[in-house]
Parts: sequence; structure tokens; C-alpha cells
Amino acid sequence: MIIAIDGPAGSGKGTLARGLADSLNYAHLDTGKLYRCVGLAVLSIGKDPADAEAALQEAKKLDLQDIDNIDIMGDTAARAASKVARFQKVRDELLKLQKKFASSPPGGRQGAVIDGRDIGTVVCADADFKFFITASAEVRAERRHKELLARGEPSIYARVLSDMLARDESDKTRSIAPLRPARDAQVIDTSELDANTVLATALKTIKAGG
Ligand code: C5P
Repeated sequence: MIIAIDGPAGSGKGTLARGLADSLNYAHLDTGKLYRCVGLAVLSIGKDPADAEAALQEAKKLDLQDIDNIDIMGDTAARAASKVARFQKVRDELLKLQKKFASSPPGGRQGAVIDGRDIGTVVCADADFKFFITASAEVRAERRHKELLARGEPSIYARVLSDMLARDESDKTRSIAPLRPARDAQVIDTSELDANTVLATALKTIKAGG
């Protein structure tokens, strides 16, 4: 059983993915982490994440085991991720890891919940369930701003909003695997919903069988 969850930053897709994985006892993969790891790896060797060759070399070295070991949730990693994510060869490399996770979820689990930008459209186009999670840019920026402050990182709301809009634009307009809902995805706008309500909505769809 594969559940694909896509959506922009701050939409609540990660919270939903974790909630579903916990409720159903499925494995969870946050695919943004793969791009973040590659972006940071390129920066760590002193290169620009917009350097296609450096990004590809680092993508080739990535091991799924490593993604939870380093702190990759800051905004430097997010910006670098968005740059390496524009390269088809990088995406192809990471696609192999994602497909492997989907076809044999770790820990012998019976299913996988995978979240990102192109899971329902590219990575798992034949997923059993697809959700596209969204929210207004202002709400998403507010959430992200609070998250950064809670992590002890300096944050200015206006800057978070403009960074988020820039990253959305880059993710939506790129020619390869752009961010968009799959035709058969259930779209949930979380602007006015709390995490429990979003989880309950998705679980209801899954239990009803589609
Ligand atoms: O989800 P997260 O904000 O961690 O993703 C960071 C960046 O990685 C996104 O802005 C996007 O450019 C890229 N990404 C992607 N495809 C995915 C997941 C993330 O292109 N499936």
C-alpha cells in the first residue's frame, strides 16, 4: 500500500504523512530530506548547488540511512535543495532510492507514506491513495516562521514569506517534475484546519477505500 502526499512547504504535508504512518504503522519517507542532503553536501564541498555536475556526484553518494543523521531542516538546506532539485539527472538518481523504499518499505512494513512534490505525479504515479496538501502562502509562512523560532533560529516573517514564494515559484515552474496536484489526488486546503482534522479527513478517505 502506497500513500503519496504532495504539496508546497508549510502546507502540513509532513505532519499528515507522519500522522498517517503512525496510525497505519507504515514506513514514512520525507523526500525533501533527500534533496536537502544533496544540497548541503554540495555546499559542504565548497561548490554551488546550481552546479549540475557537483549536484549529481553528491546525489550518487547519498544513502537513505544517512538522511536522519544530519540536521537538514534549516533554510540554507531548503534553498540548496530547491536548486539541485531542478536537475533531471539528480532527480533520476534520487528516484531510484524512492522507488526502492516504495517497493520494499523498511522494517517489513505493509505500506509506505511518501511525501514530497512529485510523488503522486512521478515517483509513485500508481499510488493507492494520493493527497495534495495546500494552504495560503501567508499561513504557510507563519507556520514556518514559528517552527524556525522554536528551533532557536533567527527568523523574520517577511523574509520567510518572500523565500517561500520564491521556492514555490521555482518548484512550480520548473520543466521537470513541477509541483502540481496529480489528476486523481484529493486536495486538502489546511489554511483553516488543525492537524488532527486533516489526519481524520485523510484516514476517512483511506478507510472508505478511495
Ligand atoms: O519538502 P522540503 O521543503 O523539505 O523540500 C525541499 C526542496 O526539495 C523543495 O523546495 C523542492 O525543490 C525539492 N523537492 C523536490 N521533490 C520532492 C521533494 C522536495 O523537488 N519530491
